[in-house]
Amino acid sequence: MKSYKILVCDDEPAFLDLYDEVLMGAGFAVVKSARGEDCLRLAVEQLPDLILLDVKLPGMSGFETCAALKKGRQTQYIPLIFVTATFQDVADRVSGIEMGADDYITKPFCPDELIVRVKALLRTKELQEKLAREQASKTLLHEEILSLEAQLKDAQLAQSEGARSIIGRNPRMEKIVQLIESIKDTVANVLILGETGTGKGLLAEAIHKTSARKDGPFMKVDCSALTETLLESELFGHEVGAFTGAVKRRQGRFERAHGGTVFLDEIGEIPMDLQAKLLRVVQDNEFERVGGDETIRVDVRIIAATNVVLERAVEQRTFRKDLYYRLNVICIDLPPLRERPEDIPLLVHHFLGKYAQKNSKQIEGVGEDAMRALLDYGWPGNVRELENVIERAVVLCPGRVVTPDLVMLANKPAVSRETSSDRQLKDILADMERDIIEGALKKADGSVDRAAKALGLNRTTLYSKLKKYGIPIP
Ligand SMILES: Nc1ncnc2c1ncn2[C@@H]1O[C@H](COP(=O)(O)OP(=O)(O)OP(=O)(O)O)[C@@H](O)[C@H]1O
Ligand SMILES: [Mg+2]
Repeated sequence: MKSYKILVCDDEPAFLDLYDEVLMGAGFAVVKSARGEDCLRLAVEQLPDLILLDVKLPGMSGFETCAALKKGRQTQYIPLIFVTATFQDVADRVSGIEMGADDYITKPFCPDELIVRVKALLRTKELQEKLAREQASKTLLHEEILSLEAQLKDAQLAQSEGARSIIGRNPRMEKIVQLIESIKDTVANVLILGETGTGKGLLAEAIHKTSARKDGPFMKVDCSALTETLLESELFGHEVGAFTGAVKRRQGRFERAHGGTVFLDEIGEIPMDLQAKLLRVVQDNEFERVGGDETIRVDVRIIAATNVVLERAVEQRTFRKDLYYRLNVICIDLPPLRERPEDIPLLVHHFLGKYAQKNSKQIEGVGEDAMRALLDYGWPGNVRELENVIERAVVLCPGRVVTPDLVMLANKPAVSRETSSDRQLKDILADMERDIIEGALKKADGSVDRAAKALGLNRTTLYSKLKKYGIPIP
């Protein structure tokens, strides 16, 4: 069973010890905090599966902490149970539940009751996630996917071209699309957050294409790809002789993006020294080229994206707070694919169409088993990984329907918040080895001899590996 992490917040050390004992005894991992402020920070840092929060706390009260948690983009969906002493009980209970708490326990509590409530809440959450997955898997049938797609197209008719490139029916994705539409006439800076492959780049382009400045330039800079000097010159340009090798004057991206949008990808990687210069452009729309005195003024919208927790970088003083606030006028948090399983069939269908056309292949759809495997998988690489899997399946597909062997994902279940780094390296390597062997066998039309040769293994070794991974011997 997955080990759940519970964050507890109580100012009484005796209660913290009690939680520790009771919860650890029931197999949970426990993170402790004595103040609301600490609870908030730990909730962001550790992303617990559930929070137990005392109402009476020194400093920030339990209710204030709850309100802040429910506002936090990463913390709002974490189930929360309030715990309090009996006085004021009913009134507290009502306000607690109104604030979005899921349950309420009164002190002193019986340890068994605590465990039952915690387990019940975790189970409800799991059931909800499972339900969403099942709901999604009900759309397995080809016609149903087509009808979903038609619905999506209908919904998209009213949308602009930019927003239409984003596929998704999950409510959080629909909200994001609505948001792009609603900010199209503003120049507000946008900060896009999300794990790798969730579509940050696609969204940035969609925002630009939807906006009133869509006919202006869209300039993307990957802040992680260049050294500090090169990045500075890339962003702001340089004059002749600004540094060794600067033989010609060059305009930077900000200058060339005048009237359009600059997309700063991986903004978390931008060095401290450059952050000051960037802040000036963000605040005053002006800068100087490297090695130059002339002040250049530009009109640009800035979209920044990152997959690191910027709040933490701000706390650790590796990212300027003032810059963070200036960039973060509108914040869009792209949910990972495992939290929007209902989008999987639509994305699969979209990528099937795209790659079938590209490879001139006739493919009708994905078989039910294959779709189930796709829905059950955790997608640590998100939409990009799904796109790669479908591209490979299309290329390898001998018939008109994609079968489970073509998607090769079995044994990699969707466990919420499990990332590849949580898995043991040897398991990851074993998965990769199995995939490679299956791929080689397929390529060799099932001939063990030829597959062994292609893999540089002798037959006996390959046979023992087939046995180890339970791959049927052709
Ligand atoms: N909702 C979506 N609809 C259609 N295609 C999508 C969607 N989300 C992502 N994609 C596609 O998935 C691929 C990965 O997306 P993108 O490069 O935008 O991710 P990212 O978040 O910028 O990743 P990284 O953090 O690794 O830079 C792209 O080919 C993109 O077009
Ligand atoms: Mg990207």
